Amino acid sequence: MTYAALTGWGKCLPPAILSNDDLSTFLDTTDEWISTRTGMKARRISHVGSIELATVASARALACAGLDPGEVDLIVYGSCSGEEQIPNSASGVQVALGARRAGAMDVNTACTSFLYGLTSAAGMIRSGTIRNALVVGVEVISLGMDWSNRNVAVLFGDGAAAVVLQASDQEEGLLGSVLGCDAEARGILRVRGLGCGWAHRGIPLGDTLWDFDGQEIFKRAVKAMSAASVEVLARCGVAPEQVDLVVPHQANLRIIEAVAKYARVPMEKVFLTVQKYGNMSAATVPVALVEAVESGRIQAGSLVLMPAFGGGLTWCAHLLRWGSRVAPLAASGRELPPCDRTALELVNAIRGDQDPHGRSREGLAPWAYAETRGTAVPAEP
Ligand code: ACO
Repeated sequence: MTYAALTGWGKCLPPAILSNDDLSTFLDTTDEWISTRTGMKARRISHVGSIELATVASARALACAGLDPGEVDLIVYGSCSGEEQIPNSASGVQVALGARRAGAMDVNTACTSFLYGLTSAAGMIRSGTIRNALVVGVEVISLGMDWSNRNVAVLFGDGAAAVVLQASDQEEGLLGSVLGCDAEARGILRVRGLGCGWAHRGIPLGDTLWDFDGQEIFKRAVKAMSAASVEVLARCGVAPEQVDLVVPHQANLRIIEAVAKYARVPMEKVFLTVQKYGNMSAATVPVALVEAVESGRIQAGSLVLMPAFGGGLTWCAHLLRWGSRVAPLAASGRELPPCDRTALELVNAIRGDQDPHGRSREGLAPWAYAETRGTAVPAEP
């Protein structure tokens, strides 16, 4: 039997750090509100595009695995903030790495994109279609953020991480995954202004409106992540107490605590990054996974549970058995270009671009203005 072993890992966090106090310089919010409601203290803001972040993370993961870019069979780019619809962003990573013989595909299931991509790549390895894959989770949410909306602007950050999967006859790597989607609730987390469905509908290009029902997402996320965790453990014949570490999607510390309770895993076994990076959407789980290995929380043979949810509302849980190696085979010399601005300066530049006329909602078509106030249910694009 063929397994999809995880043999390489690497991350790339942009250096500029946006604090809660930075956010309160232009939003009606406080460090106290954000910390107590979400657990977040800081997040990163990228000075480069998502393909560049993904490329550096990927080069590090390939070096870690000792795999030459020319040997990569498939690149999966998990993200909801890819640079263009056509060409896809995975092809941008392919050319930047020089991974000439790799197939290249994007997967967008919002925050679960990396994990849906992991399942896809592992399935192709198990079936013999490919021998290896580079799976990336990357987001530059800051460019698509509505920085005038405190309900969402405080929650997200930018980042990237990648893993290498390789065919193995050892029982390791991705042992099981459960995927689902609570699609009746797809309207409670929606970003208008990204994607062609919203063209000609009164929203200027580069302007986004976030439909976001935080409390409803909270409830559905806890339910779905808990159920998926229980199901994947049952499918793999693993008891909750056998799990060595939980590396969950990190949208809110209180969501994570509730999921741990329902899945019957103590919080000491949960790996947290939410306080320093916020919610990096598709990049959250792989960045946390990399940091868990780097900090010694994952060891040879560790059983790792990864529950997640995202817009759609997609949800999933994955069970991974780490292999025998926890040290990289080699390091990559690939680095981001230096950043000469603070995170607040980067955000203010994006706000300036979004807001050339004071971001007056009156500038929008009347129907769009009504929709931003929740007084009309938007028709499907
Ligand atoms: N600063 C200050 N006050 C705020 C802020 C803010 N940033 N945001 C909202 N408030 C106010 C609200 O307006 C409300 O005021 P009101 O009582 O006068 O109406 C009050 O704070 C309380 O708001 P609640 O919605 O009750 O706060 P709650 O405790 O539910 O926390 C939160 C809100 C953090 C959004 C929570 O519901 C949550 O985490 N939801 C899920 C998060 C999520 O969905 N993340 C994205 C997932 S999708 C993905 O990962 C791609």
